[in-house]
Amino acid sequence: MAERVTEKLGNTEAGRARAAAIWREGGLVAFATETVYGLGADARNDRAVASIYEAKGRPSFNPLIVHVASVAAAQELVDWSDAAQKLADAFWPGPLTLVLPIKPDAGISKLVTAGLSTLAIRLPANPAAQALLHAFDGPVAAPSANTSGQISPTRAQHVLDDLSGRIDAVLDGGACSVGLESTILGLAGTPTLLRPGGITRDAISDSLGLPVSLRKEEDAISAPGQIKSHYAPRARVRLNASTWQPGEARLGFGPVDCDRNLSPSADLTEAAANLFEYLHQLDALGADTIAVSPIPNHGMGIAINDRLGRAAADR
Ligand code: TXA
Ligand code: MG
Repeated sequence: MAERVTEKLGNTEAGRARAAAIWREGGLVAFATETVYGLGADARNDRAVASIYEAKGRPSFNPLIVHVASVAAAQELVDWSDAAQKLADAFWPGPLTLVLPIKPDAGISKLVTAGLSTLAIRLPANPAAQALLHAFDGPVAAPSANTSGQISPTRAQHVLDDLSGRIDAVLDGGACSVGLESTILGLAGTPTLLRPGGITRDAISDSLGLPVSLRKEEDAISAPGQIKSHYAPRARVRLNASTWQPGEARLGFGPVDCDRNLSPSADLTEAAANLFEYLHQLDALGADTIAVSPIPNHGMGIAINDRLGRAAADR
């Protein structure tokens, strides 16, 4: 792959204009959302989308999420429904991705959908992301801005450490407030949770007034965030550690003695926001194993345990 000089852009009108110009020319710009940093390209440009896969080293059969600036922009791309409207009213802008049937004339690159008849779409809440999407005024395909299989980035520096020289720019929108990828909800059939994330299954079910089913493991499409070993730090990860072994890097939760504490007060939302940043930090210490306190499996804890389970899976 050709070496690129990666520009670091500030979240200013000039920085956003530059980022939008790079997208129009078919380049790659990483940008902050409230969940994690995304590696964005013009979703209508085949070559630009192909270069996302190339920069990430990701197998090309995995579909990508498209980011839009407004509900109206989403409605131009997919067959909108009453359920979609209810959820958009309740959770957009925010960390919820909806998977809906794609319109035949949507103009989205086939590389984005990986040949599926559905499109994953979201309207991010981060103000820097919104301003940038408005400046570009088009659909932006963006997976998390990390090499495939690595920990997702929650700061501009994480992106630079991993992808510098392989992307055109990163627009620094600060630290991500949610810190975990969006919840993905399938809405092409009965509502189905495809990936737990920043919005809980119960909150979605309440707002829809319908049950939300869980994706069956055997129906899984092979995709990052759905494959078993993912979000992996270099170190091995040991889960549900109620005591620490000598030499381990200790990632605690609640009132425990440790190297980094996801939330001393046992607040799951705070823990989610810190998870990837602390995995990055502990991995950098060079220990062979990162041991992690038990995390309660409710609310945001479900998404945290999903990511930790993948980080700990056999590779
Ligand atoms: O928070 C997020 O969602 C971040 C930020 C950057 O928006 N993005 C993100 O993208 O996590 P990525 O590429 O790491 O994960 C995309 C997920 C994959 O698990 C993929 O399988 C699923 O979205 N996906 C995309 N299109 C789909 C579709 N048509 N049907 C089912 N799943 C789909
Ligand atoms: Mg990812």
